[in-house]
Amino acid sequence: MTETASGFKWVPKASVIAREAGARLKEFFTQGVETEYKGDVDLVTIADRTVEELIHKRLGEAFPDHGIFAEEGTRERLESEFRWYVDPLDGTTNFAHGFPHFCVSMGLEHRPAGLAQDKDGTLLAAVIYDPLLDEMFTAERGRGASLNQRPIRVSKTENLAESLIATGFPSRKRHINPNIHFYQEFTLRSHGVRRAGSAALDLAYVAAGRFEAFWEFKLNPWDTAAGLLLVEEAGGRITDFIGGPWRLDSREILSSNGLIHDELLHFFGDIFAGRDLAPIPSPRQYAERRAARAARSATSRKG
Ligand code: IPD
Ligand code: CA
Ligand code: CA
Repeated sequence: MTETASGFKWVPKASVIAREAGARLKEFFTQGVETEYKGDVDLVTIADRTVEELIHKRLGEAFPDHGIFAEEGTRERLESEFRWYVDPLDGTTNFAHGFPHFCVSMGLEHRPAGLAQDKDGTLLAAVIYDPLLDEMFTAERGRGASLNQRPIRVSKTENLAESLIATGFPSRKRHINPNIHFYQEFTLRSHGVRRAGSAALDLAYVAAGRFEAFWEFKLNPWDTAAGLLLVEEAGGRITDFIGGPWRLDSREILSSNGLIHDELLHFFGDIFAGRDLAPIPSPRQYAERRAARAARSATSRKG
């Protein structure tokens, strides 16, 4: 079935735009681009800006009365009832280093007339495209989530110990972010924690059952809008770190297959409270033990 024949309302046109944008990213990736700093370790390239311009133009042609809110600065028709959150290149650090994991992300929100600026509307459509793997993740509210037009569902794994999960770290103010502690604790309690560098793909992978869960501390709506709808439509659950409802501008996002969500929330509670943390040696203790082992084996060789 083609995307147009599927009965979807926005995905057919949006996925054509994401595919064109992805093809452009792939060209830039192949030829290599120079990197600039927006702040701290927050990188930007000509690919981010060119592809945002392209999406801006194409969305304007396809949906002339829709608004656009995009990472590299596009703010258009924000009074409109419909608003696209666009990340033209999610995974810029990967892209800049030649690490082949990044995507285009576009999520559509419905904002009824009169909705206060600080209130969320309803997410209606999602498109996330990975041009290197040619993987197109799509969703529309009430119509399920798909990968290359085949339905996807979250995984059926029921416990954290058997889960592969994911997180990310901010590219600004890194020294005031505690996520490394959560990374450590969840690594010791699961099959592993991936930090692959694209929040939108992390969410798409939760929707596709490749990850059981994903959390991050400080994301923006262009990182999450599309992925959140994908996870919801694939049967997953999304909250903040204490189980409250998520918002597009939430500082915390915890998404999962639903089945391990309460267990994750329990551990978030423990970690925030400093309770039952897994004991591991400090680097200094490790170095002291290593030196002691070396001294013992030197003595036994002499004797
Ligand atoms: C970043 C990626 C990364 C996440 C960062 C985001 P960008 O987006 O999604 O995985 O950890 O917090 O800022 O800068 O590559 O669009
Ligand atoms: Ca991003
Ligand atoms: Ca980006």
